[in-house]
Amino acid sequence: MADRYLSFTGTAPGRFLTRRLGLPRPAPLRRWSAARPELDGGLLHLTAGTSGLGLAPVLARTGPGPDETTGRPAAVVLDATGIRDAEGLAEVHAALHPVVRSVAASGRIVVLGAPIDPADHHQAAAQQALEGFTRSLGKETGRGITVNLVRLTDARAAESTLRFLLSPKSAYVSGQVIEVGPHATAGPHDADRPLAGRTALVTGAARGIGEAVAETLARDGATVVVLDVPQAEQDARRVAERLGGSALPLDITAADAGARIAEALPDGIDVLVHNAGITRDRRLANMPAERWAPVLEVNLASVLRTTDALLAAGVLRRGGRIVATASIAGIAGNAGQTNYGASKAGITGMVRSLAPHALAGHGVTVNAVAPGFIETKMTAAVPLFIREAGRRMNSLAQGGLPVDVAETTAWLAHPASGAVNGQVVRVCGQSLLGA
Ligand SMILES: NC(=O)c1ccc[n+]([C@@H]2O[C@H](COP(=O)([O-])OP(=O)(O)OC[C@H]3O[C@@H](n4cnc5c(N)ncnc54)[C@H](O)[C@@H]3O)[C@@H](O)[C@H]2O)c1
Repeated sequence: MADRYLSFTGTAPGRFLTRRLGLPRPAPLRRWSAARPELDGGLLHLTAGTSGLGLAPVLARTGPGPDETTGRPAAVVLDATGIRDAEGLAEVHAALHPVVRSVAASGRIVVLGAPIDPADHHQAAAQQALEGFTRSLGKETGRGITVNLVRLTDARAAESTLRFLLSPKSAYVSGQVIEVGPHATAGPHDADRPLAGRTALVTGAARGIGEAVAETLARDGATVVVLDVPQAEQDARRVAERLGGSALPLDITAADAGARIAEALPDGIDVLVHNAGITRDRRLANMPAERWAPVLEVNLASVLRTTDALLAAGVLRRGGRIVATASIAGIAGNAGQTNYGASKAGITGMVRSLAPHALAGHGVTVNAVAPGFIETKMTAAVPLFIREAGRRMNSLAQGGLPVDVAETTAWLAHPASGAVNGQVVRVCGQSLLGA
C-alpha cells in the first residue's frame, strides 16, 4: 500500500530521473502534528480592489504570524472580495504575480471572493473568474502548495475555515471553492479541544477513514461512538477503547437503525459522521440487481433514513453537525461504478437540499466531504496500474491519507463552523477527475 514512488522521488537519483523524464514530482506533504501544529513560516495579507471585510483582526487570530523577515511566506491570503468588474482582475495578477514563486513548500494560497451577485453580471463575471484563476493556479504551484477560494461576506463567520485552510490540517485540500454564510455562531469552546463535552457518532469507524475520523474528533475533545457492522465488533471495540469512547455494533441498513442509535445514546449526540460505505464494482451491463442494491442501500438510503430519524427524534442536539461522505466518483463518474457514483452523487443532493432546513429547524449544519484517492484497504485492492494512475492524477501527484479526510471532517464539525452549511468539500489534492 505504501507509495514507493513518493519515497523514491525524495532521493537524489529519484529527483534526477523525474526531472529528466518529466515524471510527476510529488512533494512530501506537511501534515499536522502536536509537535508542529502551525505552518513553517509567516502570512502575507494582500488585497485586490477595495475591501470592506475587516480581515486583519481575524487573520491575526487564525493564521501564522505576519511574514516580516523571510520573504518566503508559508501562507498568502488575497482578499479579492472588492473586485466588481473584469478590469479589476488586473489587480489579482498584480498582487500574486510577484510573490507566487516565493511561497514556501507546503504553503497555502487562499483567495477570498464575494458571493456571486445575480443582479450584476459584471460582478458575477469578475467573481466567477476567481474560480478559474484559483483552480488553474492550484495546478501550477507544485511543492505541496495548495490553492483554495473562499466566498464570504463576514470575516468572523469564516474564522474556523481560514484557520483550517491556513494550517497543515488542510494538506490534501486544494482547488476548492468554499462558500461561508453570514452567520457567526461560535459558542464558547476550548481552542485546543473544541469538541470537549460533545459526543460524535462515526459510522463505519472500525477501520480506514472512519477510524481516522474517530481518532481526530477524539483528539479535538469529543467522546466518540464507533459504529460498525456486528462482524467488525472486535475492531470497533479496539478503536473505541484506544480513544476512550464506546462501540456500537449495528448494521446501519437495519430498518430501525435510527431508533437503536437513539436508544443507545439517550443523552443525544452533537456530531454525526456518515462514513460507512461499500463498493460492488461492475459495468452496468454486467451488474445484477444484487450488486446494485446494497451499494445504494449502505451509501445513500440508510444515510437518508438515519438522518431523518435522528433529526426528528431530536437526538442531534442544537448546534449539531452532520458530515456525510460523498466521493469524486459521484462528481466525475467512474467506469464500473454506476451504483457507487449514483449513491455518492445522491449524498451531494441530500446535503444541498437538507442543509438550509436542518439549520433553520434544528440548528444543525449538513455538509459532505468528497474524498479522492485515499490510501486505504479500499484503494489497496484496486489493480496496480489503475491505482498508480489514481494516485498521480491530481495536482499534488499523490494519494491522500485517511487523516486528511478526518481533518476536513473535524473542521466541519467545529463549533465555530456554523456558517459553513450545504458544502461538498473535496479532499482530493485537486484531482483531475471532475475538476
Ligand atoms: N478510500 C477512498 O479512496 C475513498 C474515496 C472516496 C470515498 N470514500 C468513502 O469513504 C468512506 C470510508 O471508506 P474507506 O476507504 O475507509 O472504506 P473501508 O472499507 O476501509 O471502511 C468502511 C467501513 O464501513 C463499514 N460498513 C460497511 N457497511 C456498513 C453497514 N451497513 N453498517 C455499518 N458499517 C458498515 C465497514 O465494516 C468498514 O469498517 C466510504 O463511504 C467510502 O465510500 C473512500
